[in-house]
Amino acid sequence: MPQTLVLPQPDDMHLHLRDGDALKAVLPFTAKQMARAIIMPNLKPPVVRVADALAYRQRIQAALPEGSDFQPLMTLYLTDRTTPDWVHEAKSAGIIAFKLYPAGATTNSDAGVTNILLLLPTLHAMSEAGLPLLVHGEVTDSNIDIFDREAAFIERVLKPIIKQVPQLKIVFEHITTAEAAKFVENASDNIAATVTPQHLLLNRNDLLVGGIRPHHYCLPVLKRESHRQALLTAVTGKFAHKFFLGTDSAPHSQHTKECACGCAGVFSAHAALELYAEAFEQAGALDKLAAFASQNGARFYGLPQNSGTITLVKQTQTIPPCFNFGTESLIPMRAGEEIAWSVVSA
Ligand code: DOR
Ligand code: ZN
Repeated sequence: MPQTLVLPQPDDMHLHLRDGDALKAVLPFTAKQMARAIIMPNLKPPVVRVADALAYRQRIQAALPEGSDFQPLMTLYLTDRTTPDWVHEAKSAGIIAFKLYPAGATTNSDAGVTNILLLLPTLHAMSEAGLPLLVHGEVTDSNIDIFDREAAFIERVLKPIIKQVPQLKIVFEHITTAEAAKFVENASDNIAATVTPQHLLLNRNDLLVGGIRPHHYCLPVLKRESHRQALLTAVTGKFAHKFFLGTDSAPHSQHTKECACGCAGVFSAHAALELYAEAFEQAGALDKLAAFASQNGARFYGLPQNSGTITLVKQTQTIPPCFNFGTESLIPMRAGEEIAWSVVSA
């Protein structure tokens, strides 16, 4: 009998679904494993107002496979123009959070915030409404080395925000460094973090040794092995309740990644839970996977715990070399390779 793990159904607390044909191509993967997902608003144009988010939610619901009860949880894209009134409107409409993209930090972040400390009234309104701020935690200063941008963000942006708005719930998204893990561990309970499968399983050698691997390029960029080890310790350690599943699965067509200036993003939704299972097994902590994947995020967001279950078995699966992506193709994480775990029923 292969080893079997039965977990409460997980949630993906950080997901890119895109729109149109791309949305139709990727949504079934997430809907098959996850009960809910927090949907990132970095479309072109970005999802800035409540009406944009509600229309986007309808397009997601229309693209769901027949009979699916997957629930998309909608976010708004914070801009320099977001007012406290827009926050109240968001709260009434059931929007779950606001996403901070520092302008220029990553894919479709041109409309992002130029100086978050000019938005204090808006942040206070979010704090009072209990709406979390989700941060892409990298500074964009061209003088700061790309490998140091997350650590610099803590000092230059995160600490000043927390000083000014101490009760604001903040999710430090897709953390990649020992500094970020330590910061979250030592912060108060209104500060939490998501961690992706690629940052738990890969380091920067997997990006650069033996040739550039564009399908391992994402932002924040993969870091050195000691940081990967720090993340594994964080998600399984004494303060593990502050960390939860957020894949940052971010599909881009093959040709926009395999080119002279390739897009950032790793697609992992096809095998999200299996990839996390490999990481937790590596850390000798499969018993901590359920809290990370299915419980800590819901608790942080004040959502009900999921009642369904999902079953993983220690059975090797081979990932297809590519998937259809509208009229293009999509190269998934582990394309053409094996993963040690499989989901057998959800
Ligand atoms: O690698 C990334 N891809 N990081 C992000 O922050 C955005 C995402 C995307 O939307 O492609
Ligand atoms: Zn993201």
